[in-house]
Amino acid sequence: MKPPILLDTFFKDKTVFITGHTGFIGSWLSTWLYMLGSKVVGYALDPNTSPSMFKTLNLEKKITSIVGDIRDRELLGSCISESKPDIVIHLAAQPLVLSSYQNPVYTIETNVMGTVNLLESVRKLSSGKVCINFTSDKCYDNREVDYSYKENDPLGGHDPYSASKASSEIVTSSYRKSFFDNDGAVNLASVRAGNVIGGGDWAENRIVPDVIRDLSTNKSVQIRNPDSVRPWQHVLEPISGLLWLSVKMWNEPNKFNEAWNFGPNSTMTVKELVNEIIQYWGRGAWVSSQTNLKHEAKLLKLDCSKAKNSLGWSPVYDVKKTIAETVAWYRNYKENNVDMYDFTTQQIINYCKTAKLIGLPWASQ
Ligand SMILES: NC(=O)c1ccc[n+]([C@@H]2O[C@H](COP(=O)([O-])OP(=O)(O)OC[C@H]3O[C@@H](n4cnc5c(N)ncnc54)[C@H](O)[C@@H]3O)[C@@H](O)[C@H]2O)c1
Repeated sequence: MKPPILLDTFFKDKTVFITGHTGFIGSWLSTWLYMLGSKVVGYALDPNTSPSMFKTLNLEKKITSIVGDIRDRELLGSCISESKPDIVIHLAAQPLVLSSYQNPVYTIETNVMGTVNLLESVRKLSSGKVCINFTSDKCYDNREVDYSYKENDPLGGHDPYSASKASSEIVTSSYRKSFFDNDGAVNLASVRAGNVIGGGDWAENRIVPDVIRDLSTNKSVQIRNPDSVRPWQHVLEPISGLLWLSVKMWNEPNKFNEAWNFGPNSTMTVKELVNEIIQYWGRGAWVSSQTNLKHEAKLLKLDCSKAKNSLGWSPVYDVKKTIAETVAWYRNYKENNVDMYDFTTQQIINYCKTAKLIGLPWASQ
């Protein structure tokens, strides 16, 4: 059997075009690709949180960063074609359920037409072998039963965000069948990630940044839905999945052009997650807040057996290690003298070392 092509061998000198590079997941992805020696070109809005991971890591100085709206098809198209990418990864989106209730039209324009604009731009490329659309576990028709969703389960969406991600999936599938299938020139897949946590997320109305903000100002933590169950995973898990999927798609065209779930081995309730965070932080308490009357899914689980069986991908960290790594990032951020770029790259190196120890193909010789 041929040895697998490791991520660093594959990504060195490849041009990777990322939309949404200024956000939480985009900053981690850009950092990892920069470490691997890729030429990263990012397209997104300016960071909309303060602090921002993108600014903290000074990524503007390390990659090519273009400020542009995903709804601007002409600008996006010219930026993609000028960068002549080998790989395109689409992360740009309005990613918050509660904001989607406040701004449904913006959410759908950004998440659905943004996907259309991206795929139209990729259609016109003469380069570009791999394109991956990062959607969400919320794209499934959530029946609120104890069941782990598989890639061939029906799509749906109660809130506008979930509906926009289901629509983005349908658009992706349509473009694949209508324009990209079988010629091997562009390989198109989608990634449906469970709830992503990790250092450097500063979004409003997201559980981990909300908890960290309260803990660091000695406030008691307010939790909207303590009993909701979620597939929490470290941000590096779906990123390792999409990087490895890119390698597989590049090397074996047409074989992996599908949807892929990437999630953890187990789930946890919101209150269990918060209790763990408080334990690693060292002090704090939470109370249940009844301020949100909008519907949010109560029970969400993902079946990732397809990625495990077909890609040899598995999560590297269990939920306790995931939370420990996450809290360690924020604690170090609070210590003003820590270089957070060094700290972040060290977390990526440690993650890769653990993946190698457990024998995952993307990390092993
Ligand atoms: N964080 C999670 O738990 C999670 C889970 C599953 C899927 N996702 C998906 O991952 C992707 C990234 O999410 P994140 O958590 O990093 O969110 P984020 O808010 O930190 O980043 C969003 C990125 O999209 C960009 N963006 C938003 N609107 C845009 C527009 N109109 N034009 C151009 N760029 C725009 C932002 O500038 C930013 O770079 C999103 O597609 C999200 O739906 C996130």
